[in-house]
Amino acid sequence: MNHNGITRRDWMLGTGASLAALAARPVRAFGSISASQENSSQEPEAVKAERARHMQWWHAARFGMFIHFGLYSVLGRHEWAMEDEGIPVREYEQLAKRFNPVPNSARAWAKLAKQAGQKYMVMTSKHHEGFCNFDTKLTNYCAPKQAAGRDLLREYVEAARAEGLRFGFYYSLMDWHHPDGTRCAHDEDARKRFVEYTHGLIRELMSNYRKVDVLWYDVDWPLNAEQWQSEQMNKMVFELQPDIIVNNRNGLPGDFSTPEQEVVAAKGGRAWESCMTMNESWGFQRADDNWKGTKTIMRNLIECARGGGNYLLNIGPRGDGSVPDESVRILTEIGQWMSRNGETIYTADPCQVSESLFAGFTRKGNTLYMHVHFWPGDTIALGGLTSQVKSVRLFATNQPVRFEQEKFRVRFRGLPKEAPDHPVTTLAIECDSEPLQNMNAIRTDRPRAGVGLS
Ligand code: GLC
Repeated sequence: MNHNGITRRDWMLGTGASLAALAARPVRAFGSISASQENSSQEPEAVKAERARHMQWWHAARFGMFIHFGLYSVLGRHEWAMEDEGIPVREYEQLAKRFNPVPNSARAWAKLAKQAGQKYMVMTSKHHEGFCNFDTKLTNYCAPKQAAGRDLLREYVEAARAEGLRFGFYYSLMDWHHPDGTRCAHDEDARKRFVEYTHGLIRELMSNYRKVDVLWYDVDWPLNAEQWQSEQMNKMVFELQPDIIVNNRNGLPGDFSTPEQEVVAAKGGRAWESCMTMNESWGFQRADDNWKGTKTIMRNLIECARGGGNYLLNIGPRGDGSVPDESVRILTEIGQWMSRNGETIYTADPCQVSESLFAGFTRKGNTLYMHVHFWPGDTIALGGLTSQVKSVRLFATNQPVRFEQEKFRVRFRGLPKEAPDHPVTTLAIECDSEPLQNMNAIRTDRPRAGVGLS
């Protein structure tokens, strides 16, 4: 969409056209991620509106599946094993002769994602190890030319489409295998070769799979955006995929921020997606038994929805493509909850109410959803709500709930002793205006009695 001759793409790229037209505004298209993140608040309304259109499906999707799959899945010691254990490149690359997952393993991932309530998937096309899961003319270090003998990314694309899921490609700029992957930092010829290789691979990714919804760059070490020629990179991506959205890890701000292993809303109204593992590893690590509980993961998803963000939850399939039982169990439990309560997540508006020792919150219009994860029993209290409550019900069953509202608290009464839903129970609290909470007022304004017991 064009407005004053400036498109979202121009703005993101910081091209001459956009800079000339907006001469008064400082644009920092290059530089560190944190500096570039500030861009969004400076963007013209038309640019924001165009981005909003591109991202509409993504915001509504809310919940996605991240998939880390590569040679490290055969090794089963985390996707960083190659570097972390100092494995020689010649030794590590032999794994390519053993990486031959069961055909169409991706179908099970896509089915799992769908029944979990995840609306999109993002899979590693090439991770730091440098092995390409897709067909490429630029290297034989790729699945079709090694043991697998076929394009694993294509199987994934087809599986996602079959389930009606949107999909994206993760792509690591850092490359531990390519001979120029490190020397590009101090050898200009090597940099040129490596950038050409990188842009070439991305061009293939953007050309060979019809419509792709997300490009998810990762780790831009050891170059900066200028050296990667990230502007040209994005420009090529947008030319080949006009509707695609890109993240912020090629040194440019992109369309959304990517907090990792934490749920922290981006500043200035920027779109954000929190990516997270279910245990401590992205790639399959056989011995990692430190799984989060379903409840913790559910609370994270709720907190993402409260802040208007997305949650990209990872699976690390084994080398044969099978998904660890724990991941399947967690995703299945989440899916069951989402089938009853998903509406309180997908369509949620940003929510100011946040304080409770036993619940998280989301909101739709004037309705506050209180997601109780530690069920206190027959009475549930909420402090500091400044809006008037009109009605309350248990969301999943529609059962009405009695309530009593005082100045500093509202209490929901006559509830079952045991939590009626798992892993959290949701109360829909309809208010007379946007639900807001003022915890300060409780501390400062709540009337006090005498010095002793009155
Ligand atoms: C980090 C890790 C990488 C993982 C990514 C997911 O960048 O290096 O292994 O793929 O996070 O966000």
